[in-house]
Amino acid sequence: MGRSTPFYACQSCGAQSRQFFGRCPGCGSWNSLVEQSNPAADGRRRRAVPVPAVGDHSGPRARRSEPIQSVGERPLQRLSSGFPELDRVLGGGLVPGSLVLVGGDPGIGKSTLLLQSARALAADCSVLYVSAEESAQQVKLRWRRLQQPAEGGPGEEGLQLLAETDLELVLQELEALRPAVAIIDSIQALHDAELNSAPGSVSQVRECAAALQRLAKRQDMALLLVGHVTKEGMLAGPKVLEHLVDAVLTFEGDRFASHRLLRAVKNRFGATHELGVFEMRDRGLAEVTNPSELFLGGEGPCAGTATIVACEGTRPLLVDLQALVSTTSYASPRRTATGIGINRLHQILAVLEKHMGLPLSRFDCYLAVAGGLEVEEPAADLGVAAAVVASYRDLILPAGTVLVGELGLGGQIRSVAQLELRLQEAARLGFRRAVVPRSSGLAPVAAALGLELLEAGGVAEALVAALGVDPSAD
Ligand code: TYD
Ligand code: MG
Repeated sequence: MGRSTPFYACQSCGAQSRQFFGRCPGCGSWNSLVEQSNPAADGRRRRAVPVPAVGDHSGPRARRSEPIQSVGERPLQRLSSGFPELDRVLGGGLVPGSLVLVGGDPGIGKSTLLLQSARALAADCSVLYVSAEESAQQVKLRWRRLQQPAEGGPGEEGLQLLAETDLELVLQELEALRPAVAIIDSIQALHDAELNSAPGSVSQVRECAAALQRLAKRQDMALLLVGHVTKEGMLAGPKVLEHLVDAVLTFEGDRFASHRLLRAVKNRFGATHELGVFEMRDRGLAEVTNPSELFLGGEGPCAGTATIVACEGTRPLLVDLQALVSTTSYASPRRTATGIGINRLHQILAVLEKHMGLPLSRFDCYLAVAGGLEVEEPAADLGVAAAVVASYRDLILPAGTVLVGELGLGGQIRSVAQLELRLQEAARLGFRRAVVPRSSGLAPVAAALGLELLEAGGVAEALVAALGVDPSAD
C-alpha cells in the first residue's frame, strides 16, 4: 500500500495546509495543527464498506428515512462485566455494539479492571483482549494473579489474547474472530502504519479509534478502549475520541490510597456522573459496596470537621470535610483545598467574612475532603462553611449532624437536588440531624427516617442551628 501525502488540519477551525505551523494561520490557535492522511488514499482503504447502524446485518445498501413509529425497537441485551459497580456506571451493563472509552492515569488499574471484566464477560460470550502495551506473557501473569485458585474456571475458554500494536493486524484478527466483545489496551499504543505520526499522537489515536469503530458497528461488537490521560489530565486526542464513543468512563483515585473511583462522564446508554467505587487489593480490584464508610473519617469528634452528603449520579455519599483555620504569618493568607475547587473555598470564605463578620482574611485556611474524593457540587458549600467556622471557633459539631446546601453570594442557603435521597443515606448510616435549605418540604420524610430536620434560609441561621451556639458572637 503506497504512502499517502500528509497534510495538516487545524483542530479548532478546520483549516488545512500542506505545511506544519505551530500556530494555525486560519484562526491563530497554538498547537492545533494535526497531521492527517490523504483523504483519497484513506477512502480507498477504509471507506469501501459503508457503516450500517448498530444491529443491522443486511450489508451495504442505500438507506431511506422511515416514520419514527415504524422504527423497530430492540430491547437492549446488556452484558454483565461481573462487577455490579461497573455495570451500574455503564447504565446496567455493556451494550453490544457500543464503544466505551475507559480513561485514567497510568498505573491506576485500567488493565486490571478490564482483564477482570474480560474474565466475567468470557463466561457468556467470546472476548478478545488486545494488549498493545504488554506482552502476552505479562498479561498471562497478571491473569494468574487475578485468577481464583481453581483453574479452568469461567472465562478460561472464551477469552482470546492478542499482543499486537499494528492496527491493520488487529483489525484482521477482529474480522476473523468476530468476538462479541473486544478490549483494546490501549488505544494510544496502537499505530496505523499508513500515518507518519508517532503512536499516541492525536491523528494516530483518531484514525485507529475510527477504524475500530467502523468495524465494531459493522460486526455489532462491543468495544472497550483504554485511553491514557496526559499530564494535563486530558485524554489524548481528547474531543475527537469523546465524540466518537458511546460512553466515556474515567478511572481515578489517589495513587497512595487503595480505593479507585469509576465515573461515567458521558453515556449514551445510562446516566452520567454515576459513580462506582473499587479497592485495589493484591489479587486485583474488589468492589466497595458501602462507600460512604470510606469517606467518613471515623476518628471521632474533632474541631473543624463537618459531614456532608454529596451526590454522585444517583448515589448519595457521606463525606467528611476537614478545615484548619490558623492565624496567618504571611502578607496574604494561605488557602489550600484538596478535593474541592479553590475558588469555591475563596467564595465561601468571602461570604462568611461579609455576612457573619468573621475576619477570615487574617487567617490561613486549609480544607481537605476525606478519602481523596473530588466534590464538585455546590451542595457541599454549607458543610465547608461549617467546617471552617468550627475550626475558627474551635468548636466540635454535635455528633450525627450532616449539612447540605449551596451558599449564595448574599449568604442565602439555596436548595439542592436529590435532597430526599441524601437524607435517606444519612439516616441509613445513623445520622440524627440534618441542616438543609428552607422550604425543603421534607419534614414528613425526615420524621419517618427519625432525622431532626433543621431548615435554614441564611448561612448564619444554618450555622447557629448546626453548632448550637452563635459563632459570630464574641
Ligand atoms: P494496571 O491495571 O496495570 O494500571 P493501568 O492499566 O491503568 O496502567 O495497574 C497497575 C497497578 O495496580 C500496579 O501499580 C500494581 C497494582 N496492582 C495491585 O495492587 N494488585 C493487583 O492484583 C494488580 C493486578 C495490580
Ligand atoms: Mg495498563
